[in-house]
Amino acid sequence: MEAAPPETGTWAIQPAGPLVGDVRVRGSKNAVTKHLVAAIMGGRPSTIRNAPEVGDVDITSQILESLGVGIERAGSLITVHPTDSPAPMVPVEFTGLNRIPILLLGPLLNLVGEAFVPLVGGDQIGRRPVDFHVAALKALGAEIEVRDDGVAAKAGRLRGAKIELPYPSVGATESVLLSAVLAEGKTVLKNAATEPEVTELALFLQRMGASIELQPDRRIVIEGVEHLDGASTTLEGDRIEAWSYLCAGVVTGGEVRVVGCRQDRMVTAINVLHRMGARVDVTDEWTTASAADGLHPVAVSTDTHPGFMTDWQTPLMVLLSQADGMSVLHETVFENRLVYVPALQQMGVEVELFSACLGGPACRFHETNNLHSAVVKGVSALRGAEVNVPDVRAGFSSVIAAAAADGPSTLRGIHHLERGYHRPAEQLMSLGLDLRTA
Ligand code: UD1
Repeated sequence: MEAAPPETGTWAIQPAGPLVGDVRVRGSKNAVTKHLVAAIMGGRPSTIRNAPEVGDVDITSQILESLGVGIERAGSLITVHPTDSPAPMVPVEFTGLNRIPILLLGPLLNLVGEAFVPLVGGDQIGRRPVDFHVAALKALGAEIEVRDDGVAAKAGRLRGAKIELPYPSVGATESVLLSAVLAEGKTVLKNAATEPEVTELALFLQRMGASIELQPDRRIVIEGVEHLDGASTTLEGDRIEAWSYLCAGVVTGGEVRVVGCRQDRMVTAINVLHRMGARVDVTDEWTTASAADGLHPVAVSTDTHPGFMTDWQTPLMVLLSQADGMSVLHETVFENRLVYVPALQQMGVEVELFSACLGGPACRFHETNNLHSAVVKGVSALRGAEVNVPDVRAGFSSVIAAAAADGPSTLRGIHHLERGYHRPAEQLMSLGLDLRTA
């Protein structure tokens, strides 16, 4: 096997025709880091298989190591060696790197009764506040101080509580799961997120010995236990990565066969491809998509699961730009997720943004000035450009646009992309993309 090409900050891309070939996706970025956090609460080591090699795993491993947790990595296998007495403070040098520190509050309170975590980062998509996490922990009996540099918390043993989230937040649901599993008594969480990665975390915690009941209507009931054990799991395929590569094939007039992501994780995305007139073939092992006869315009609203995932809309935007007519995209999960659009406009995507809710019922952002709806005109003539990619998902949409453009492109800020995609340069080159790293 050839060595992986070095992945650095800038990519020079020369369109080289249709992208064709196989991509095997690893376990999802949005699940693996949460499993790592859960595993620190086990009385024995845990193993996580099919882990992706993404920047978020590196960052999370370093955070956990700074607490005294042992992390052993061998290819796609991660073993977590918990410690009885982790350090209660996540160092401030981890400020703003990813969303994991806030999820550590509950586990650290469970293990040592106190915690300090620096303020969270993640992509620049909206305010990304942590008020739901803080309110949930307070309901569970923690004393919390939100400071300029982070969040400090103290508790004797956390106590089960009734909690209702104002919105079914993925991260806040995970916070509650990770906190309530070792709390005293019963926690009833209403309006919980039901994303597949959340369910995967609940299943992993159940393997560790947690008592978790997933009920209808977004309710989760957790009965706190005295002790959790180690567990072993194989992560399910990354549905964001799978979708990104399917789009890359379709937009370039090619066909990518994505292996390793189950159909039920992709159902809404596949349906959008059908509505656009693409051909999609699905088997138990793989999914392919192509659009030999072109693409039809469509109206899509992003939503919580099982709706069209917000992280899917960035590659979709490029797909819409190649449809035969006007499409509408309504972002309802993050108010500021369309910040990447100027990068695509530079590459010729004809898109206009609106603060009104277009193409679907009014969402939480309908009386704000947030530009969260887009009208996209197809077929836009894509052209190569020099662009700075603002975040991980936006980065991939610029790559797809560059692959289908007329002329070369230079993309800067590729480290964002490497935070969430497994060896992206290697994968894209294997599909035929002329890509040089610098
Ligand atoms: C996770 C995913 C991200 C995905 C998102 C929605 C990870 C690492 N990231 O992000 O890829 O796009 O779910 O599926 O898993 N909110 C608050 N207060 C809070 C928490 C959230 O107002 O305390 C709001 C957010 O601003 C946003 C909405 O809730 O408008 C959804 O956010 P959330 O589901 O929490 O996203 P993340 O867990 O950060």
